[in-house]
Formats: sequence, C-alpha cells, structure tokens
Amino acid sequence: MGALLFFIGQFVRHPGRVAAIAPSSQRLASAMLEGIALAPGDAIVEYGPGTGSFTRAIQPLLKEGVRYVGIERNDSFVTYLRQQFPALEFVAGSAADVETILAERGIRRPRAVISGLPLASMPRALRVAIVEATSRALAGGGEFRQFSYVHFYPFPGGRDLRALMRGAFTEFTVSRPVLRNVPPAFVYGGRN
Ligand SMILES: C[S@@+](CC[C@H](N)C(=O)[O-])C[C@H]1O[C@@H](n2cnc3c(N)ncnc32)[C@H](O)[C@@H]1O
Repeated sequence: MGALLFFIGQFVRHPGRVAAIAPSSQRLASAMLEGIALAPGDAIVEYGPGTGSFTRAIQPLLKEGVRYVGIERNDSFVTYLRQQFPALEFVAGSAADVETILAERGIRRPRAVISGLPLASMPRALRVAIVEATSRALAGGGEFRQFSYVHFYPFPGGRDLRALMRGAFTEFTVSRPVLRNVPPAFVYGGRN
C-alpha cells in the first residue's frame, strides 16, 4: 500500500493522534531541516515520523557515525517505518518519554529534535510535558523544530505552544508560512 493511503487509513482510525489528513510535503520537510548540519557523534531524534515524510529528508544528513532515533506512538506506523527504513531505529513510544528513551540508548545530548507531532491540538498537559522534556534533552545546545498549521496560529492551542516554546528555549523563531503543504504550516524553532 502507498504511504498516502496508509496514512489516511491511520487518520481515519486515530484522528486525534494522527491529526493530519495527509503526510507533510517535501517543501515542509526541507523547511523543518533548514540549517541543520550533523557531524559524526551527533544524534538526531524525530517525533511522530508517521509514514516517514521527514525521515526521508533526514536520511541524507545521516553520515557515518550519526545516530537517528524515531519515536512513534502508533504501532502500525512503527511496523511500516521499520520496513521502509531498515537501517534506522524506531521506538514504539511517546515523545513525552524522550529522556528515558535516549538514556536507555546512551544518547546524552541530541543535536536536533524534529517533530511531526500535532502539538498545538494535543491535550495541554501532554504538550507541556513534551516541550519541557525536549528542552531538558537539548540542554547545552541543540535545535527543536516543530511545525504548526497556519490555521491553528490564532487558536488557544497554537498560542499556548508558542508561549511554551518561548519560555522553554533560549531562542524561539517562527518561519514564513510554508504554502506548499496541505494545510500550509509554519516551522517553529527552539534553540538552547
Ligand atoms: C501529523 S502526523 C505527522 C506524520 C509525519 N511526521 C508527517 O509530517 O507526515 C502525527 C504523528 O505523530 C504521532 N504521535 C502522536 N502522538 C505522539 C506521541 N505522544 N509520541 C510519538 N508520536 C506521536 C502520530 O501517530 C502520527 O504519526
């Protein structure tokens, strides 16, 4: 089955958790990764890889000695990802547990966390837990990238996400809207 049909099938089954009607575009994937360079010894973490739209764009950055860990809560997506990207490591779990997941793998300070999670539409307690755990995991340097659909910008979830990121990270940035995505989205950046 193609990635698009598989993704839509999972959206129909778990609309609240998948929270997007289609996988992200390559244009959004490029915007999410803009300026991220990885060197041997670095690690990159992906939250909510789904059917791998961002994973495919991350792959060329994974030079020898760079570690990748994808954290995905939907078991069907995890099975699919392991088939599509057999060289990469996918953990079936929640991004809220990122610190434990990294500690279990001996990863101390990832260089970047790329998130495909629907953070703006998640329950607030989970949003807070994920933003704070990510900031701690990136302490001392590292980038957090999170996309958020343009239509969420004025709503409480979108405003809350920006306020949380502003408070949790030393620097916070918002990209121009990425129009070639369904729906259009901003990339929020947090740096420690
Ligand atoms: C909007 S989809 C994005 C998929 C893909 N990254 C993309 O951009 O096309 C959100 C993904 O986050 C996953 N997800 C939701 N809550 C999660 C959590 N707490 N931890 C890890 N993954 C989660 C969903 O299962 C789904 O695959």
